[in-house]
Amino acid sequence: MPEEKRIGLGVTGGIAAYKAVDICSRLKKLGADVQVAMTSNAARFVSPLTFRGMSGNPVIVNAFGEPARWNIEHVEFARWAQIIAVAPATANVIGKVASGIADDFLTTAIMAARCRVLFAPAMNAAMYENPIVRANVVKLRSLGYEFIEPAEGRLACGEEGPGRLAEPEAIVERILEILSAGEAKDLLGVKIMVTAGPTREFIDPVRFISNPSSGKMGFAVAREAMLRGADVLLVSGPVSLEPPPGVRFVPVTTAGDMYDAVIADLDWCDVLVKSAAVSDYVPESVSSSKLKKGATALDLHLVPSPDILLEAGRRKGRRILVGFAAETDDIVENARAKMRRKNLDLIVVNDVKQEGAGFGGDTNAAKIIDAGGTVVDVPMTSKRDLAGIILDRIAGLLGRRPER
Ligand code: PMT
Repeated sequence: MPEEKRIGLGVTGGIAAYKAVDICSRLKKLGADVQVAMTSNAARFVSPLTFRGMSGNPVIVNAFGEPARWNIEHVEFARWAQIIAVAPATANVIGKVASGIADDFLTTAIMAARCRVLFAPAMNAAMYENPIVRANVVKLRSLGYEFIEPAEGRLACGEEGPGRLAEPEAIVERILEILSAGEAKDLLGVKIMVTAGPTREFIDPVRFISNPSSGKMGFAVAREAMLRGADVLLVSGPVSLEPPPGVRFVPVTTAGDMYDAVIADLDWCDVLVKSAAVSDYVPESVSSSKLKKGATALDLHLVPSPDILLEAGRRKGRRILVGFAAETDDIVENARAKMRRKNLDLIVVNDVKQEGAGFGGDTNAAKIIDAGGTVVDVPMTSKRDLAGIILDRIAGLLGRRPER
């Protein structure tokens, strides 16, 4: 760690609380200043004295309990910390933060925090898979909170499944990664337009053709670019994600709308990243009233949609163009052909037949191909990490960092 980092370590009441001692110790060994805030339930699993000894700082146990010797306010704690890592994070603390509840020191500090917040969940597998917990995680992720997935295995309750706290080493690594991403302002002032999500092509007022894009890939690129100092414009088809704070957001519906939005701001941007899954075909005409069900087959006549990236490639100039390709067969060859046709600098191709890659989930695996034909394989990772790797390549092309 190049300079002393200020890390707020939130410990909540689960059997894995003892592993937070290891996290604290590892962070201290790296030279970090660690301030531990425990919930009262956490203090029933591990004594605050242990954390005090390990961190070298007084430990805060619940804001509304007895006055601590070091009487720090939650707002001060939130301002002081460069990151707040909650490990273990119970279903309770995740639910409270997702619902805007701040009824103890830790949740109040999280609510007041402007820094990044990382949750490392640990709980019984059935709790972790409960749709309420899943929805809370999705909500928090879409609001920019970070998560490190729990591991699968035998849990303290005797069950097998996901819910075991990620390894302390991995949590520490993630904390350092987040801190260094916040520091890397290597895209400061670069104007980046990102497209995300699907488009909807209406057949009649109530039916449309679309695809399963969730927008997660494009939103991750937009968010990481913003954190690295870029001015970001995010043009997205209909998705259920919150746009990242600090990003200019233009919602669109159809391929035609997306074409208009991208072309309108093309001259503004230095970089265009097209991760949207745009419909290649659109109905030739849209019925103004709902089509009635009949006894015979219904023929739809589809025509090609405007190819936004092809048009951006024609007007490329000095702009960096990054395309995506969702492929099922001959993925490298097909992607190379798209890259040439659309005049791109990079293409990110995902094999959407591969489990865990492409549409919908939080992970992706891709090959990044550059104009010289070099293929770099990115094995399965989070969409956030893939976004970071794509932005490293863009920073390299802009001369902002050495090309890898
Ligand atoms: O949104 P997620 O659920 O996170 O899923 C991510 C993703 C799978 C959608 C993403 O990783 C991805 O692969 N996006 C591109 C999907 C796609 O439309 O690929 P394509 O091979 O059909 O298009 C190639 C490129 O041309 C894309 O950059 C696309 O945005 C662009 N295009 C395509 C058609 C069109 N009419 N205009 C375009 O600009």
